[in-house]
Amino acid sequence: MTGRADVIVGVQWGDEGKGRVVDVLAKSSGVVVRYQGGANAGHTVVVEDEKYVFHLVPSGILYPDKICVIGNGVVIDPEALFEELDALKNRGKSLARLVVSYGAHIVMPYHKQIDTLLESARSEGQKIGTTGRGIGPCYSDKFERVGIRAEDLVNPQILKEKLMTNIERKNEILTKIYGAKPLDPEAIYETALGWGKRIKPLLGDAFLEIHEALGSGQNVLFEGAQGTLLDVDHGTYPFVTSSSPCSGGACTGAGIGPGRIDRVIGVTKAYCTRVGEGPFPTEDKGSLGELLRTKGGEYGATTGRPRRCGWNDLVAVDYAVKINGIDGLALTKLDVLSGFEKISVCTAYNIDGVIKNHFPSSCTELAKAVPVFEELSGWKEDISKCRKFEDLPSAARDYVSFIEKRVSAPIILIGVGQGREDTILRGI
Ligand code: IMP
Repeated sequence: MTGRADVIVGVQWGDEGKGRVVDVLAKSSGVVVRYQGGANAGHTVVVEDEKYVFHLVPSGILYPDKICVIGNGVVIDPEALFEELDALKNRGKSLARLVVSYGAHIVMPYHKQIDTLLESARSEGQKIGTTGRGIGPCYSDKFERVGIRAEDLVNPQILKEKLMTNIERKNEILTKIYGAKPLDPEAIYETALGWGKRIKPLLGDAFLEIHEALGSGQNVLFEGAQGTLLDVDHGTYPFVTSSSPCSGGACTGAGIGPGRIDRVIGVTKAYCTRVGEGPFPTEDKGSLGELLRTKGGEYGATTGRPRRCGWNDLVAVDYAVKINGIDGLALTKLDVLSGFEKISVCTAYNIDGVIKNHFPSSCTELAKAVPVFEELSGWKEDISKCRKFEDLPSAARDYVSFIEKRVSAPIILIGVGQGREDTILRGI
């Protein structure tokens, strides 16, 4: 019997609670794989009242009997990775075995510097609001085919040749375009050699770990970072990240064929948030947005920035269901909506006076979208102790059913609190 391959994707603009969903599902999996993004991600997991935020390591790392894989599609900041592993060890945690793909690209100090310089050079309205983690410049080098891969860190000669050529070019950019100081190639080379020594025992054929686990009957979870609407192809370009958080990204970023994926689970918050710039039709810049931010603790797990907040946007969720081939949804933070008299959800957009039921592929069109809301009854009860769907107040059940109907996907997991156990499972 072969194992099941599940992909977990964000349905909105990231921060949907993918980490806690992965943490719950990891229990019945042998391997958890990150397939794209880098330390721009911040996946929060709460176990026995202890909070963990993972930036690079897969959210299955707290299960010592599992294997965690960082796939070829991820961009790794070695310092961030080692810091994360050290912090976990310092908390006395035994960790899953970590395998890093030889093919994952390395975020170098110049990527982070250029990321920040590029962003500050962008004029108002063009700023992306990047996390400044060097993600875009690192992926640019990857696609320019000049990037440094994890395997290069353990091959001093190749590393030297690649780094010297890269830094020569980066120094041209830094000094001539930005008037910044040139970088010292030798110092960077020495730092990178040190990373190589530490990363060496972690390097492996990541795809093989995945396929061997599946072949031996173990389930494998593919953990997307960011979200559908930040996807470089399907998101709100140019206000996106530089990778493919959608389910297709799992195929290229980890090495698995589309036909081998059994299930795609989309994670959506019960409302909607966005951090960084770009269109967000249901954003509420007034008291509702503030209330959702406060009640939901909506501050970036990576940058601490306040998140923009608003009601859920089912036009966007429906789009994500289609783009990713979502089989089931996980609805997180439903408890945050307790206490609202009325709950609104966006079911269509009004664009230039025309009602549209579909998410426009054009970002210019999306920027003009005015949400059409439907209003549902709220509930007052604290739902954090509910463990079965039937335990929820009828208005909360109606809210869940409304979403399922509008987006044609079942809700198979509901988050009613931060902890691992604060979860309602529905046939998952
Ligand atoms: P970058 O990925 O740092 O280049 O940032 C590009 C855009 O994606 C910015 O708007 C960021 O705020 C956003 N972003 C990147 N990673 C995350 C994430 O993990 N959660 C939410 N937003 C993110």
